[in-house]
Amino acid sequence: TEQVPVGHLPRSLTVAALGATTRQAQPGDHVRVTGVFLPLLQGGLLSEPYLEAHEVLKMNKSEEEELSAGDLSEEELQQLTGEDLYERLAGSIAPEIYGYEDVKKALLLLLVGGVERELQGLRIRGNINICLVGDPGVAKSQLLSYIDRLAPRCSLTSARGSSGCGLTASVLRDPLTGSSALQGGALVLSDGGVCALDELDKLPVPERAALYEAMEQQRLSVAKAGVAARLNARCALLAAANPPMGRWDPRRPTESNVGLEPALRSRFDLVWGVRDRPGRSRDLR
Ligand SMILES: Nc1ncnc2c1ncn2[C@@H]1O[C@H](COP(=O)(O)OP(=O)(O)O)[C@@H](O)[C@H]1O
Ligand SMILES: [Mg+2]
Repeated sequence: TEQVPVGHLPRSLTVAALGATTRQAQPGDHVRVTGVFLPLLQGGLLSEPYLEAHEVLKMNKSEEEELSAGDLSEEELQQLTGEDLYERLAGSIAPEIYGYEDVKKALLLLLVGGVERELQGLRIRGNINICLVGDPGVAKSQLLSYIDRLAPRCSLTSARGSSGCGLTASVLRDPLTGSSALQGGALVLSDGGVCALDELDKLPVPERAALYEAMEQQRLSVAKAGVAARLNARCALLAAANPPMGRWDPRRPTESNVGLEPALRSRFDLVWGVRDRPGRSRDLR
């Protein structure tokens, strides 16, 4: 998707994976496919080309395959695990954005994640959900897009113009076979990673309900068009929003500045109020 030239639509191609090439990737993965271009005859002279996969290579590293501590020399490990490790790691997040040490620490914790607990069958999520609420022009969107580039698995969407189905899952009818198929939305595609959602306040309230189940239960139950399924959405949600009045009003209580309904607000572990206090020297820095 990041190689699509500006102003062009992404193109798609059907890939047929059989036998050993199946189950090599999950929705949202970037893969390199080697194969043979073949026509799929559709009666008469009509044919649709598809790629018969011979090899499917995963391009994105999963967290397990990332560098582990054992691959580092003693000296490198010492350098990395100094006393100020937390500050330095947080400071390396979006270094082009001035200040926001606390917000960056929170974003670091979101990337690392907490510990998922299992108490006698009761699962408690380990992912941390964060919402940045604040004045326009305080680099909320910039922080989100930095996390999108940094996280091994992340999908960045703007809630403005998104629908609940687009975030969760929609049912498509396969034009060839006529059977129904589920297509995962942003929350499903970021399973095992981060889902960054900009302009959360512009998402219509009924559509916001799509987030509730994913944020707490970390899964999505879909029942539509004869398809009943349960999809995993084990992701950390990072959202950005403007206050309902457009700007943060210090004379009003915090919850009316945050402005999300209680069911949604309570599902965020951290809500940051980011204020833009105009000042020449501050702005220059
Ligand atoms: N603390 C900051 N350091 C550097 N640039 C900033 C900072 N705050 C805002 N900006 C700049 O302001 C611009 C607007 O940021 P943006 O992320 O679009 O704001 P928001 O989404 O919060 O409305 C960005 O181009 C960003 O570079
Ligand atoms: Mg923005």
